[in-house]
Amino acid sequence: MAFNEGNFQDIMSEFAATPEFIREVATNFQKDLKIGLRDPKSSSMRMLKSYVGLPTGKETGEFLALDFGGTNVRVLRIKLEGEGRYEVVKKVGEPLIIPGKYDYIGKNSTVDEMFGFLARLIDEAIEGDHETKFYLGHTFSFPSTQDDLNNAKLIIWTKEFATPGVEGKVVNDLLLDALKKRGIENVVPVAVINDTVAVLLSAAYKQSEVYTGSIYATGHNTCYLESSIKDPKGFGQGGMILNLECGNFMKLTPNRFDIELDKNSEKPGEQRFEKMVSGRYMGELFNMAVAELLDEIGKNYGFTSIDMSGIVEDDTANLEKAAAIVAEKTGHKLELADLKKIKELDAAIIIRSARLVTASYVGIVWQRAGEGAITTQHVAVDGSVYEKMPLVQENINKALRELLGADADKVDTILDNGGSGLGAAIAAAMAVS
Ligand code: GLC
Repeated sequence: MAFNEGNFQDIMSEFAATPEFIREVATNFQKDLKIGLRDPKSSSMRMLKSYVGLPTGKETGEFLALDFGGTNVRVLRIKLEGEGRYEVVKKVGEPLIIPGKYDYIGKNSTVDEMFGFLARLIDEAIEGDHETKFYLGHTFSFPSTQDDLNNAKLIIWTKEFATPGVEGKVVNDLLLDALKKRGIENVVPVAVINDTVAVLLSAAYKQSEVYTGSIYATGHNTCYLESSIKDPKGFGQGGMILNLECGNFMKLTPNRFDIELDKNSEKPGEQRFEKMVSGRYMGELFNMAVAELLDEIGKNYGFTSIDMSGIVEDDTANLEKAAAIVAEKTGHKLELADLKKIKELDAAIIIRSARLVTASYVGIVWQRAGEGAITTQHVAVDGSVYEKMPLVQENINKALRELLGADADKVDTILDNGGSGLGAAIAAAMAVS
């Protein structure tokens, strides 16, 4: 079959992120930040206080780190040695879901299963030692309200998590219950942070001039150091880190695929920005558009962002690898002209994502600069989309240049791989110092 050219062009224009569009998004993002600083309820972002500022880099000691925020849970024992140095003494990890085997994040899972699973992993990480005292930092990567560093109440699940009985609860209370049930009383949670905060702490532990931390993976979110907020209950220096929960940013126009995806998601109306840019959803957007081109609207081929990477990085003349992925998922053997279109569409979705995410970073850079000049700074980013998806980093750089002009020389993004675990250990160290 040959795709309908008009339909293809229409889909491509839906996913275009023009220079005007991203500039508008950056401007609206900054406006929403300003509004949120005055009154968080008026912003589409939650702008949650984390009760922690930046580390000094001198934090030392051994800590337990629980990294809970995606399908893979990790527990690490990390020895902080100061000046950016650290050693991972022990690391265990397992998925919360293995399709067909077990599922601790779906609608039918329970609090006991989910937190019992976490307690079991912690037990493994401490190698059954129920005597030695371990301080635990918990990276809990969902929107949570805090009124100190150690208590976080889950507002709402995101990223399609659906376990009943956790929303509205203080997560470390649930964790403590589960630990107790396993006879573990020597693990003491002392800090809960979002994964974006963890990335920022981790990057700032190692180098200076980092004020923004971001996750660009299954989910998407960013935090930054807000120097105007000082709170006696907070730890660290330079002000307070705000977890923006900008996956929920809404002041931008979605296209018809975004609208449809949102309608069919676990939480319609929530996380509109995240549903346009993050790894969890890009495959679905691609899926919907491909189904339209194949005249099979509504069909689910199960495309993931990994498939999208595979297709877009195929540089062979006949697009053989791309053809194989498309055939495997859709059952269609496409002619070369159509495959080229699929690849173009794939790239357009990735590029839109990278450009929108960059617009949000620029909104933060502008907000931090205020009336003053933009200073040299690195935006620390962790996540598979940022790290591994083709086209992402080059399009971030391009969009930074487009939006910041000459100031783009002062702003770059840096990978902080594994920051979620290290950041939790640093937060724990800051809490007990
Ligand atoms: C979702 C969560 C947020 C987290 C992000 C990345 O957006 O709501 O808390 O930081 O995913 O994991």
